[in-house]
Amino acid sequence: MKFDVVTLFPKMFEGVFGESMIKRAVDKKIVEIKTHDMRQWAWNSYGAVDDKPYGGGVGMLIRVDVIAKAIKNLKSKSPKSKVLLTSARGKRFTQKDAERLGKYENLIIICGHYEGFDERVSELVDEEISIGDYVLTGGEIPAMVIIDSVTRLLPGVLGKDISSKEESHSTPGYIEYPQYTRPENYDGKKVPGVLLSGDPKKIKVWLTQQSKQAGQEEDIPS
Ligand SMILES: C[S@@+](CC[C@H](N)C(=O)[O-])C[C@H]1O[C@@H](n2cnc3c(N)ncnc32)[C@H](O)[C@@H]1O
Repeated sequence: MKFDVVTLFPKMFEGVFGESMIKRAVDKKIVEIKTHDMRQWAWNSYGAVDDKPYGGGVGMLIRVDVIAKAIKNLKSKSPKSKVLLTSARGKRFTQKDAERLGKYENLIIICGHYEGFDERVSELVDEEISIGDYVLTGGEIPAMVIIDSVTRLLPGVLGKDISSKEESHSTPGYIEYPQYTRPENYDGKKVPGVLLSGDPKKIKVWLTQQSKQAGQEEDIPS
């Protein structure tokens, strides 16, 4: 699977994806993550990608012609790419979206900045994705969130012992049960006795109860 990321700050991705599981997924050629400096599609020779909003207002907007050129260029190499726009106004990203997006061969992710995009950019993309109800300075962290959550679900990325099937949010409202490791007693905080019982049936019942209880405390979407 390939990710093409259009960004004003390609270097931001080096640290995050230069370590740990995602780096291993890249090394194993399960994913390719390519960043593209948005300024190569600038509208003037100074590398500008933004302009003042019509009607006034604070801040600058990324121009539609810049993004159109970026998408055209990247799609000419991978015509079947799905184009995602990072946007605080977009649909809230969930684990289900991570599973769904992992089925595409190529995702183009566009990272905004400044006050966001000219409205007409919305017509050029397949989906607008928000990672939560707050506003970040740019779309780079949302793009990293999408790439990380999609990649870790791809076959061969997680170790054999680690399953993504029974994790928090794998089904809406499901929250993983509490887990413990050594020491058995830390400063008076003890591991629940049932986990030390050695009785697999009892343990399974307890774990199921615990994840149900946690799920009830969650804000389950209706
Ligand atoms: C400062 S924000 C623009 C916010 C915009 N003026 C608004 O009120 O919706 C700049 C860029 O950061 C990204 N961004 C900010 N918050 C985001 C979020 N919660 N989810 C996804 N992208 C976000 C988007 O790419 C956005 O274009």
